[in-house]
Amino acid sequence: MFLWGGRFKKKSNKSFLNFNKSLSFDYILVKQDILSSIIWSKTLLKCNLINNAEQNIIENCLIKIKKNVKNDLSIILNSDCEDIHTWIEQEVIKRIGSIGKKLRTGRSRNEQITTILKMWCISIIKKIIISLKSVQKKILHLSEKYIDIVMPGYTHLQIAQPIFFSHWCLSYFEMIDRDKNRLIDILKRIDYCPLGSGAISGISYNIDRYKLAEDLNFTDITKNSIDSVSDRDYVVEILSCSSIGMMHLSRLSEDLIFFNTSEANFIELSDKITSGSSLMPQKKNPDILELIRGKCGRVYGSLISILVVLKGIPMAYNKDMQEDKECLFDSVKTWYDCICMVSLVFENISLNKKSCLKSVKNSFANATDLVDYLVAKGMTFKEAHILVGKIVLYSISKNKHLNEIKLYILKTYSILFEEDVYEYISIEKVLERKNSIGGTSKKQILNSIELARKRV
Ligand code: ARG
Repeated sequence: MFLWGGRFKKKSNKSFLNFNKSLSFDYILVKQDILSSIIWSKTLLKCNLINNAEQNIIENCLIKIKKNVKNDLSIILNSDCEDIHTWIEQEVIKRIGSIGKKLRTGRSRNEQITTILKMWCISIIKKIIISLKSVQKKILHLSEKYIDIVMPGYTHLQIAQPIFFSHWCLSYFEMIDRDKNRLIDILKRIDYCPLGSGAISGISYNIDRYKLAEDLNFTDITKNSIDSVSDRDYVVEILSCSSIGMMHLSRLSEDLIFFNTSEANFIELSDKITSGSSLMPQKKNPDILELIRGKCGRVYGSLISILVVLKGIPMAYNKDMQEDKECLFDSVKTWYDCICMVSLVFENISLNKKSCLKSVKNSFANATDLVDYLVAKGMTFKEAHILVGKIVLYSISKNKHLNEIKLYILKTYSILFEEDVYEYISIEKVLERKNSIGGTSKKQILNSIELARKRV
């Protein structure tokens, strides 16, 4: 069935018809299209464009279609309709005859598609927010479980300063919190109902757009009919959010892949979420993390794709816009799946306390604290920094750590060194002193966890 035809003399070319179709992916919007159609039929009733009985018949028919689709999606997928709007109209007419032909009165697919796409986006955003919160809870759980595990903190992938594993965990809590807030922010801007805008210029019938919006669970209505049918900012915003969210998950994966190497050996991933090699029997690979890192690429691709699609489209609706859906659906699903996988990783991770500590002890992670020691004794930071650099060089040449350098040697560098230096640069003290808000001291971490709990 076609939604047009009167002005055409020739039959459509088959390849063109296939090229033009979107049903294979926009079927996903069936629930939203049925709901908006029910609400539209009520609008038609209020405008006396259909009578009570007709509205009832249309509504009941749509409810039945919804049930049938729920049981068997193939009734849509096996059809050769152009899109989900066409399929629903065809189904309605097939079931209730000519009354069904009234459903389309005054309504354009241009406003219909963006209305139902917005409805779909709102519900998926809410679902993603819940999944992000769930990951945040897992992060807090893990932070508490491994609250005392010391590990090296890196900059430039060089050991920088000691941190607690929980501190590392909490850094991802913050990133995910921003991802969540970005989505909450989008919800505010997306919440304007475009229905009632017509194809471009508005509608000739006396419809109540506010009531229509309210019935479809929107807070407000769009203000310009041309913009209503042309706006896809919300798709761009969601893809932008997904990209940032995936970037965070990818960095998290990269961290864990590194922590999981035989060289670092900080964590172990359970057999439940790792896979083996077909050739090398010793292997236990973190495929799950590599896939998350890899899938980031397709989400970035979608963001670029929609930006390029939209940049040259003249006002108002153009069919180019149909290209918004596959990338949006794919990216949102990818992001959601990856969030669930990260949750699974957090449930199936264990820490190797000894390796974490050994790595800190075998490093110069306390060198900054040796500088701080001298500063506390009155030396300028600049001088102390140079002096400790020399001591580090000496230690490397002797294959020793800073705490193994004898006091009489240290004194050859500065008379300010006393016996108390060893306690000052011990890992415990180094960690304890990082007590600025958000720092790695246990006190701060406990505080951060407590505050974070309130945020989820
Ligand atoms: N499938 C179309 C889309 O996704 C629906 C709107 C079609 N409108 C039109 N005038 N052809 O954008």
